[in-house]
Amino acid sequence: MKFEKPAGENPIDQLKVVGQPHDRIDGPLKVSGRAHYAYEWHDVLPNVAYGYIVSAGIAKGKISEINCDAAGNAPGVLSIITADNAGPLGKGERNAATLLGGPQIEHYHQAVALVVAETFEQARAAAGLVDITYQRESGAYDLAAEKPAVNSAPESAPDKNSGDFDAAWASAEVKLDATYTTPDQSHMAMEPHASMAVWEGDKVTVWTSNQMVAWCRTDLAATLKLPEENVRIISPYIGGGFGGKLFLRSDALLAALAARALQRPVKVMLPRPMIPNNTTHRPATIQHIRIGTDRLGKITAIAHDSWSGNLPGGTPETAVNQTELLYAGANRHTGLRLATLDLPEGNAMRAPGEAPGMMALEIAIDEMAERAGIDPVEFRILNDTQVDPKDPQRPFSRRQLVECLRSGAEHFGWSQRNATPGQTRDGEWLVGYGVAAGFRNNLLAPSGARVHLDDAGRVTVETDMTDIGTGSYTIIAQTAAEMLGVPLSHVEVRLGDSSFPVSAGSGGQWGANTSTAGVYAACVKLREAIAKKLGFDAASAVFADETISVGDRSAPLKAAGALSAEDTIEFGDLDEQYQQSTFAGHFVEVAVDAATGEVRVRRMLAVCAAGRILNPKTARSQVIGAMTMGLGGALMEELAVDTRQGYFVNHDMATYEVPVHADVPEQEVIFLDDTDPISSPMKAKGVGELGLCGVSAAIANAIYNATGVRVRDYPVTLDKLL
Ligand code: MOS
Repeated sequence: MKFEKPAGENPIDQLKVVGQPHDRIDGPLKVSGRAHYAYEWHDVLPNVAYGYIVSAGIAKGKISEINCDAAGNAPGVLSIITADNAGPLGKGERNAATLLGGPQIEHYHQAVALVVAETFEQARAAAGLVDITYQRESGAYDLAAEKPAVNSAPESAPDKNSGDFDAAWASAEVKLDATYTTPDQSHMAMEPHASMAVWEGDKVTVWTSNQMVAWCRTDLAATLKLPEENVRIISPYIGGGFGGKLFLRSDALLAALAARALQRPVKVMLPRPMIPNNTTHRPATIQHIRIGTDRLGKITAIAHDSWSGNLPGGTPETAVNQTELLYAGANRHTGLRLATLDLPEGNAMRAPGEAPGMMALEIAIDEMAERAGIDPVEFRILNDTQVDPKDPQRPFSRRQLVECLRSGAEHFGWSQRNATPGQTRDGEWLVGYGVAAGFRNNLLAPSGARVHLDDAGRVTVETDMTDIGTGSYTIIAQTAAEMLGVPLSHVEVRLGDSSFPVSAGSGGQWGANTSTAGVYAACVKLREAIAKKLGFDAASAVFADETISVGDRSAPLKAAGALSAEDTIEFGDLDEQYQQSTFAGHFVEVAVDAATGEVRVRRMLAVCAAGRILNPKTARSQVIGAMTMGLGGALMEELAVDTRQGYFVNHDMATYEVPVHADVPEQEVIFLDDTDPISSPMKAKGVGELGLCGVSAAIANAIYNATGVRVRDYPVTLDKLL
């Protein structure tokens, strides 16, 4: 089905099942241990061997010798895979660094060998005996030091200019010129990367933990130099991804190589302390923002340049995306700068681009509001735009930023805020309120599904879509139940298998809208097949209460017998005609200990406009999770770079701090009615990344309001407040 016109009335609008706060249908399986995660598939195959990864101990250079004698003779060892004996390997188009390194080393903890043994403990013990001699080379590890050398835009991301920024900046009445930094961050998904592989002839099956089954299949096939149809990927349950599991990683490749060499199933997990340096991370940024307004506080000039680093072949962190679209202003400039660094590969982490971009921009807006003498909620409203500021002919499909801010301010009690910083005391605590806009684009991608009706009237949905803890199973079941008029309990959803139709996958907060739209399309076809079989006019048929009816005539669905339909939703150019984005107002109250600088977040509120909310319970869960991540980004999260040795020092959960329950306050989420007929037949958009964008800045702004100290370098740790 091609979605080309704004969606009219359709069966989803009944909202009998869709839009209801149903519990996760996969919840009981998860809490009772019956949902198989990637490292738990050994009971489907006998005789599984265990692989343990040996990873590089330098950041850049060459292996001059790798001696596996002692490891090879250790108890239980079956095989040791290295680049020397792995056979010729290709490279997936989505990986910048090579997944099995050697002799060249591209980054610290790059996998260089896999030791396979009868047990996990034997493999781990023997991995410690692999003796590697390196020839070190010097590398570049310090973004701030490399920054001046890279003052040109990468080819893939040219500068964007409209109007005349320089002239408008020169004549602006009120100005801000400030630089902000965000650190490298790690996804820290609860479930480590893990895979199990088995071969039958020249066909491989890999059980793994991956957000994008079709990407993983394509890239594994390319790396193994196999036709795609010889690769099957199975990833039905995922313990968090946050972008860290968008791509094929070394665990999956090495499991496949070892399973081929041994002709038996092999499991490989990345140990927690290997994950931050072996896989990808959110790259650090240095962001230079200039904003100028007229006398009344209207933005006349806005410029945002962002520097980040990556390995050769890597891309920049697109931290200026939102600045192209969030506020009005005729004269604009955005630019991305990319330094070559020899740190591990930078790539997508939850709301790549907007999350760190909003961390900087929304502090800048707070600073600008203060300089202009305008309340920060009002300043944002004053500078709202209902069209793409570069192209006034191009409206937003829906844009309720003003409503998010107004209702948030009302609900939060914003009028209680003292505009003068450092004036509100609660005993030893300085108290402050902060606000930020939330913004994340709504992205679209084709998504397919197959729907099957059996002769008992039960429905099965199959798609390679994944559920990374987000609720995909549940909203997909709700969609099929609504479309076919059956109770939710009659729908079984099967996800995460490359033998199912290719979906849009879980990334970029597009998964909920696009994957359910794919199920919608398949259900439209199945409704037509049912109607035809039972002699009804498909266009006027009503599907409800397990029956199909037209006027007085009806028949039970199960009378149609077994029927299947498959379709893919495809999107025309509606998202070029209309800018599709999601919006939020984030409000935060903090308390800062006047003596020690300790920050406690006391209250958080997010008011979101993110299209139709398909399930308010799972959507709320996404948003409070994202708010918690934003709290971590504001106060704690930072991969510490060793700029001499070139690696992330705090590469485990003991030293890379994320919020725990005791750090998380009262969180409230309000969804505005934002049914968007431009986004898809579901009229939904994404919410999982929106919930993060802006949160950290709202906290930094609240800290400023509490203390009068303006911190422009994240995380806002207490040493920066004293
Ligand atoms: Mo998201 S960073 O595309 O999983």
